[in-house]
Amino acid sequence: MLYLTNLVKFYNDFQAVAGINLHVPKGDLFGFVGPNGAGKTTTIRMICGLLRPTSGNIWIDGISQYGNMDLVKRRIGYVPDFFGVYDNLKVSEYMEFYASLYGISYRECQSLTSGLLELVNLSDKLNENVDSLSRGMKQRLCVARALLHNPELLILDEPSSGLDPRARVEMKELLLNLKSMGKTIIISSHILSELSEMCNSIGIMNHGRIVAAGTIESILNMGRQDFGIIINIGRNIETAAEKAKEFQEIRLASVRENQLVINCSDEEALNRYLVQIMTNDVLVTGFSKHENSLESLFMQLTGDNEENADKSDH
Ligand SMILES: Nc1ncnc2c1ncn2[C@@H]1O[C@H](COP(=O)(O)OP(=O)(O)O)[C@@H](O)[C@H]1O
Ligand SMILES: [Mg+2]
Repeated sequence: MLYLTNLVKFYNDFQAVAGINLHVPKGDLFGFVGPNGAGKTTTIRMICGLLRPTSGNIWIDGISQYGNMDLVKRRIGYVPDFFGVYDNLKVSEYMEFYASLYGISYRECQSLTSGLLELVNLSDKLNENVDSLSRGMKQRLCVARALLHNPELLILDEPSSGLDPRARVEMKELLLNLKSMGKTIIISSHILSELSEMCNSIGIMNHGRIVAAGTIESILNMGRQDFGIIINIGRNIETAAEKAKEFQEIRLASVRENQLVINCSDEEALNRYLVQIMTNDVLVTGFSKHENSLESLFMQLTGDNEENADKSDH
């Protein structure tokens, strides 16, 4: 359905998207996850034709964006991360306004609106002012609007941010419903758990790059090939962390108080490492196995942005 090939975006000298390749198959509910500033919105805006790529290409349904922007735009429904303000505009007028942009007749708009509002559970709000709706309702109205021209691909940029738990559940149910109707859906978030429970595949983005992509199971398997251990250390933990850098098989060495979490691609190397630290005055007081989870893998892949992601969550 969607292919991105060597997609690059520079804002002046700053490279926000650093050559990404991605395939989202038809019918997928694809989660696009990464910390703030990873480049998700930039990528989404390029897919929707709102931002011109510096280089690379975007293919939708076998059609290249180059020279076919109108054709491509018809296949995409876009729900941006910012809703906007609509003074004194009723829900019915809001839908009519967007329908007119797509060249949909007034009569057709009436029947479309009633069907779409039912789908997003807003049928009783037809004559309400848009600005009087709750945030969750506005988000769902935005989805209804994005579906007016019956696009095959729906793209939502952080649709759950700022929603209360109940509204999040409603949004999730709506998206699962749309997936069952055969739509291909891309949804972005900086919170992994929001996506992992509804999406069948995800792409993890960091610093403008896709650092992992595929089905949730395949991404988890990628992490499982590693050997993870937690070492309790009573003395010289810094030495242990430093020594880890000398082993290219060690993909992760993170210090948590008196514990060192190690992920290593090779069992033999892990053993050599342990011998190394113990002969360098590191006092090892215990071991345990470190179980890989999607969450720990995500932290590993986007680790340096951890602080950022936490801050923006509130
Ligand atoms: N219009 C712009 N001009 C310059 N830099 C920008 C602009 N928009 C975004 N950026 C930068 O590009 C990077 C990616 O931003 P964005 O795509 O919004 O990330 P995300 O949606 O993952 O949070 C960030 O470092 C951001 O500061
Ligand atoms: Mg964004």
